[in-house]
Amino acid sequence: MADKSKILLIGGTGYIGKFIVEASIKEGHPTFVLVRESTLSLSSPAKSIVINNFNNLGVNFLIGDLLDHGSLLKAIKQVDVVISSIAHDQVDNQVNIIAAIKESGNIKRFIPSEFTNDVDRAHIVEPATGLAASKAKIRRAIEASSIRSTAVTTTSNQPGATASHGDRLVILGDGNVKVVFNKEEDIATYTIKAVDDPRTVNKILYIKPPANIISSNELVSLWEKKIGKTIERVYVPEEQILKNIQETSDFLRKLTLAICHSWFVNGDQTNFEIEPSFGVEASELYPDVKYTTVDEYLNQFV
Ligand SMILES: NC(=O)c1ccc[n+]([C@@H]2O[C@H](COP(=O)([O-])OP(=O)(O)OC[C@H]3O[C@@H](n4cnc5c(N)ncnc54)[C@H](OP(=O)(O)O)[C@@H]3O)[C@@H](O)[C@H]2O)c1
Repeated sequence: MADKSKILLIGGTGYIGKFIVEASIKEGHPTFVLVRESTLSLSSPAKSIVINNFNNLGVNFLIGDLLDHGSLLKAIKQVDVVISSIAHDQVDNQVNIIAAIKESGNIKRFIPSEFTNDVDRAHIVEPATGLAASKAKIRRAIEASSIRSTAVTTTSNQPGATASHGDRLVILGDGNVKVVFNKEEDIATYTIKAVDDPRTVNKILYIKPPANIISSNELVSLWEKKIGKTIERVYVPEEQILKNIQETSDFLRKLTLAICHSWFVNGDQTNFEIEPSFGVEASELYPDVKYTTVDEYLNQFV
C-alpha cells in the first residue's frame, strides 16, 4: 500500500460515495471517510449497514463536517487525494473544500461532486439548471485555484430510461436519442483509477463505454428479445415532460424529470465529441476494466 495515494471521501456514506469507498479499498488505497459524529452515533439502520461494512473493509473514519473548517482541514492534511460525493444540495459548500485544500497544500488531486452530465455542455431545464450551475461554479473555482482536479461525468443506472407499467413501457421523448448507462461499481472503479493518472489531470473523465451507449428504443428491443415478447411502448412527448416538470409539487421528482429530459430528449450525454483539450474517455484509458454492459445488466431482471 506504501505507494498508493491516501484517499479521503467527503460524502462517502452517500448513495454514490459508498461505491467509491469500496473501489478505493479494492484498489489498495488507504481510505478515509469524513463523517459527521451524528451519523456515526445516531446511525439509521441503513447507515449502520454502510458503516459496519466500512469497518469490516478497514476504512478509517475521520470525524468532521463539510461546514466545519477545522475538521475539514485536519482531515485533508492526512491524505493525498480528496474525492467529494456530497449531495446535490451541498454542492455550493464545496468552496469550503477548495479553501481547505489551498490552505493544506498537500493534495495531489481533487475530484468534486459531479457524477452526472457534463455541466458545461448540457442544456438543462429548471429546477436542474441551478444544480448544474452550482457544479459549473465549483469547476470555475477549482480552475481559479492551482488545485489539480478531475471532473467525473457519468450516468448511473438509477434513473431508468423507461418506467414499467405491467406490459407497457413508458419512454421519454421519441426513444431514439442515445444515452449512457453505467453500473455504480464501474463508475467507482473508473473514478479511483483516475486519481493517480497524469492523463486525467485537469480533464473531464467521461464514463461512456461503447457497449453502454444505447437509445431507449434499442434498450426495449434488447429487453423484448430477452423475455421473448413484445411490449407496448408509450411515448411521452417533450411538451408533456415539460408540463409534468411544471405541475408536480415533489421537488425530487421535478429534479429527476429535468435531468431525464436533458439525457433522453436533448441527448446531452452523447451530442458532442470529446476533444483531447478538455476530456478523456474512461474505457479507452482503462481497457483492463471489465465493465458491466447494459446487456449483462439486464440479465438479472429476466
Ligand atoms: N448520475 C446519476 O445517476 C446520479 C445519481 C445520484 C447522484 N448523483 C450525483 O452524485 C453526487 C452525490 O449524490 P448522492 O445521491 O450520492 O448523495 P447522497 O446519497 O445524498 O449522499 C450525500 C453524502 O454527503 C454527506 N453529507 C451531507 N452533508 C454533509 C456535511 N455537512 N458534512 C459532511 N458530509 C455531509 C452525507 O453524509 P450522511 O451519511 O452523514 O448524511 C452523505 O454521505 C451528487 O453530485 C449528485 O448530483 C448522480
